[in-house]
Amino acid sequence: MTWEDAVTHPLIEIERVSKTFTTRQGALVTALDDISLRIGRSEFVVIVGPSGCGKSTLLRLISGVLPASSGAVRVDGTPVTGPRGDIGMVFQRPALLPWRTVLSNAMLAADVTPMSRTEARRRAERFLDLVGLAEFAGAYPGELSGGMQQRVGIARALVHDPKVLLMDEPFGALDALTRDHMSLELQRIWMEDEKTVLFITHSIQEAVFLADRVLVMQARPGRIVEEIAVDLPRPRTLRMLNSDAFGEHVAALRRHFENEEAMSEPAGGHGAVLPVPAKEAP
Ligand SMILES: Nc1ncnc2c1ncn2[C@@H]1O[C@H](COP(=O)(O)OP(=O)(O)OP(=O)(O)O)[C@@H](O)[C@H]1O
Ligand SMILES: [Mg+2]
Repeated sequence: MTWEDAVTHPLIEIERVSKTFTTRQGALVTALDDISLRIGRSEFVVIVGPSGCGKSTLLRLISGVLPASSGAVRVDGTPVTGPRGDIGMVFQRPALLPWRTVLSNAMLAADVTPMSRTEARRRAERFLDLVGLAEFAGAYPGELSGGMQQRVGIARALVHDPKVLLMDEPFGALDALTRDHMSLELQRIWMEDEKTVLFITHSIQEAVFLADRVLVMQARPGRIVEEIAVDLPRPRTLRMLNSDAFGEHVAALRRHFENEEAMSEPAGGHGAVLPVPAKEAP
């Protein structure tokens, strides 16, 4: 997949999209300002950018849970007018239904897509196993840790086999080892099932590890200010994290944030991260 393919065969098209919110106090917030973006079929695109720059807003517009103020959003050639079956979304906060079991939460797609309950159950069990939660199928969300809930959200997004996966900091609440494991599994699913992935992270290393292309966003107003291709070979392995080529990509991306004050090296060992609000810091 090259940038040219993304332009000629886009699966996701965002054309001059802006999103303005009105706060409760009546002030206008321009979360996204005139964004245009094309994402090719089977491309893995990662978005990085400081807190509040509009990353989640952009994902919510594509997933159809939020309408744009202006501009057009198309997926597979058709305008997005609401949630749809060919998209799987992992939300920044897992948003599980507290009265449903883990298995039943993972099977949520069966309520809104034509797949049979037997098939949904089979796939939900498979993906719960993949995220390490097979034993918790009968538990309720309130009985799980934040990272476990997040993994249920990841399993849930995969059950209906969507062509497009929108992932909003899906590994944010996971410990370093689980995070590495999930990155490798996600890469495998993406390579095997030819999914198109748009993934948000605050970790520059995670961005380089996963992406074909990294988009850098900036806040106030939210804009895409840079695109960086990552041409490291696939499949990527944990050994590559120590390679010169990997380090060069990380350094190139980090240069875009040199002026950000809060660059830090977290204890989890994931290298440079972008500033996050204290309550969400890993
Ligand atoms: N429902 C809403 N009402 C009012 N303002 C909103 C709403 N949702 C988002 N915003 C504003 O839009 C801007 C972008 O928010 P968004 O959640 O997209 O940022 P983000 O890049 O995902 O940040 P983070 O990295 O902290 O998750 C922020 O200024 C935020 O306050
Ligand atoms: Mg967000």
